[in-house]
Amino acid sequence: MSDRLAGRVAVITGGASGIGKATVLRFLAEGARVVVGDLNVDAGRELAAAVGDTDVLRVQTTDVSDEQQVAALIDTATSAFGHLDVLFNNAGIGGAFGPLVEVDVEHWDRTFAILTRSVFLGIKHGARTMIAQGGGGSIINTASVAGAAGGGGPLAYSAAKAAVISLTENAATELAAHRIRVNAICPGFIRTPLAVGRDEEAIVARVAAVQPWPEIGAPEHIAAACLFLASDDAQFITGDSIPVDGGMLASGTRLIGLVDAAQFVEPLQRVRPRNHRGPARGASARRRRLSRALGRVGRAIQLNRPATRAASTDSWRWTRAGSIRP
Ligand SMILES: NC(=O)c1ccc[n+]([C@@H]2O[C@H](COP(=O)([O-])OP(=O)(O)OC[C@H]3O[C@@H](n4cnc5c(N)ncnc54)[C@H](O)[C@@H]3O)[C@@H](O)[C@H]2O)c1
Repeated sequence: MSDRLAGRVAVITGGASGIGKATVLRFLAEGARVVVGDLNVDAGRELAAAVGDTDVLRVQTTDVSDEQQVAALIDTATSAFGHLDVLFNNAGIGGAFGPLVEVDVEHWDRTFAILTRSVFLGIKHGARTMIAQGGGGSIINTASVAGAAGGGGPLAYSAAKAAVISLTENAATELAAHRIRVNAICPGFIRTPLAVGRDEEAIVARVAAVQPWPEIGAPEHIAAACLFLASDDAQFITGDSIPVDGGMLASGTRLIGLVDAAQFVEPLQRVRPRNHRGPARGASARRRRLSRALGRVGRAIQLNRPATRAASTDSWRWTRAGSIRP
């Protein structure tokens, strides 16, 4: 490690598990001091105990969908460590799964509260502090490949992540004058409790069969991209959403040619975007081309309706038990 974040203070939400935890550990190794906000009390305690140094790490029980709790989390960075330089809005859940006609409004709203309202709240309170400090900063949001080309996979999740991409673009536009950079990362399939849940090896094997890169993504791959965006190496990068996905977005046409899409319906429901005509704003021609290819994959997957329904209901229950109220 190379002290690329020496002297910096970072807030990381969802930092007690998966992508967030890997990023906490990487940032600490690079010299940052970190405040973690997570709803999972036990996992937060485990992380604090493993690091064992309150001079560099504070863990605060936080529900990122609650404005007061998010504001308090940002305050902890300044009261404990003096300032705020980096904010990683990362906490998340799988959210409401299922065919559109069966998604409960309550589940839809909760999905958006945790995946999207949280990012708005983080940006709002993080930017307030950074603007008051006057020294700029870096805000990173976890979106998803599902948000880069929505309409497939879990409906609410994809829409919520697409909203995160839009929030990122608009916040970056507004905050650039303050030298606050705002970017998103779009992970592909990353081996974390959220993505694999039960049947880990079976899911990993099936995704590996349709992802170009031979190995499944690891949380550390996303942490490395976050480090880049947090560091001065990214000082002219803002408003961008960067896929870190082992070629998943790039491989739409290849998927159609080589696999029976229905066979992969469950893992693809969780991670794969489909049916996309292209983002309304700020999209490159390349992104639109890839999205069209993914749309064709999605239509093939939609043919398998029973499997889609089973995955939906089940996944929502798992999400409620495992992530919303850990
Ligand atoms: N793993 C993947 O394949 C993948 C792909 C694309 C995007 N993502 C996104 O990456 C982010 C991190 O997910 P992960 O895969 O590391 O999952 P994870 O379950 O390992 O970690 C998510 C963390 O968020 C916390 N959390 C959940 N709800 C919360 C709330 N209301 N308030 C505070 N904390 C809360 C959980 O307690 C957990 O520690 C999420 O936003 C997810 O949507 C993951």
